[in-house]
Amino acid sequence: MSEICKNWTQWLKKNRFAGQTPEMIEQTTRWLEAVRDVVLVYADIQPTETVLDIGCGTGLLAFKALEMQQCKGNVIFSDMFQDCLDDCKKILDESGVTEGYELLKCPVEHIALPMSTVHKAVMRSVLVHVVNKQPAINEIYRVLKPGGKFCAFEPIIRSNTRYWEILDPNYIDDYEDFKRVENEIMDDPLDSLCNFDENTLRTNLEIAGFSIPEVKLQEVRSSYVVQPDMVREWFVNPPSPSQPSTKDRFLKYFDFPKVSKYMIQVEDYLTGRTLSLKTNAVFINATK
Ligand SMILES: C[S@@+](CC[C@H](N)C(=O)[O-])C[C@H]1O[C@@H](n2cnc3c(N)ncnc32)[C@H](O)[C@@H]1O
Repeated sequence: MSEICKNWTQWLKKNRFAGQTPEMIEQTTRWLEAVRDVVLVYADIQPTETVLDIGCGTGLLAFKALEMQQCKGNVIFSDMFQDCLDDCKKILDESGVTEGYELLKCPVEHIALPMSTVHKAVMRSVLVHVVNKQPAINEIYRVLKPGGKFCAFEPIIRSNTRYWEILDPNYIDDYEDFKRVENEIMDDPLDSLCNFDENTLRTNLEIAGFSIPEVKLQEVRSSYVVQPDMVREWFVNPPSPSQPSTKDRFLKYFDFPKVSKYMIQVEDYLTGRTLSLKTNAVFINATK
C-alpha cells in the first residue's frame, strides 16, 4: 500500500486531484459526471431492473442509477474493498435510503452472484486496475441475463501523451534513458494500467461471448499552464493505492540521485509552460 494513499476512498476523494488547481478539480468533476452520464445512457436503465455497478468506489455510477430508478429496482454496489462499500453505505444512511439497493463485496474476477442475474452491468475505470482482463470480462458476461448489457468506460493510458513527448532533449540530461524506460513501462504486459487498448478489449469481449461489442475510442485534448508543484505531484502520487508512483517506477531502473535530478529538471522545464496533452479512453456498450 502506498505511503501517501491508504485506500481507494482516500484516492478517489483526495489523491486523484493532487496537484490540480481548483479550476482543474471543477473540470475533472464535471468530466466525471459527463462520463457517468454517457455510461448510464448506454445502459438504458429501466425502473425495475437489477443494475450491478462493478468496482463502485464512492458510488459515482450506482448513486445516479439509484436516482434514475427511484428505488424501484435493485442497484448492487459492488467492490472488492470494504472501505468503498462502507463509504457508500454511510451516504445511503445519511440520505435515508433504505431500499432498492444491495452492497456486495467481491472482486470482478469472482462476482458473488449466480449466473444470469443482472439486467445491466456498469463500470468505470476498474479493468485498468485488473492485470488479467479476460477472466474479469468472462465473469461480467456470466452474471448478465441474456439480452443484458455491459456498459463501461476505461482509460487507455498507453496511448496518452508521454513525458518524453513534452520535454526538450537539450534541457534534460538523461532524456534518452528516461524515454527508453518510460516506453518500456508502457509496454509491460504485467502492468494493469497499460497492458491493454481498444483492440485487446474488443477481443476480450468477443471471447467472453458478447456479439459485435461496441468499443468507442475517445481522444481528448486538454491544454493548461503547469503550476509550481504540479510536476512533483504527478511523480509522487500513485495511480491507485496499491500501485507504485511514476517516481517509484523510475527508481526500479535508476538510482535515487538520477531520478531526483530528472524530476527537478522536468519541473524546471515544464513549470509555467502551456501544455497540450492527449488522453485516450473507451466507452464499451456490449449486449449478451
Ligand atoms: C478508479 S476507481 C473507480 C471507482 C468508481 N467506479 C468511479 O467511477 O468513481 C477503481 C475502483 O475499482 C475497484 N477495484 C479495483 N480492483 C478491483 C477488482 N479486481 N474487483 C473489483 N473492484 C476493483 C477499487 O476498489 C475502486 O473502487
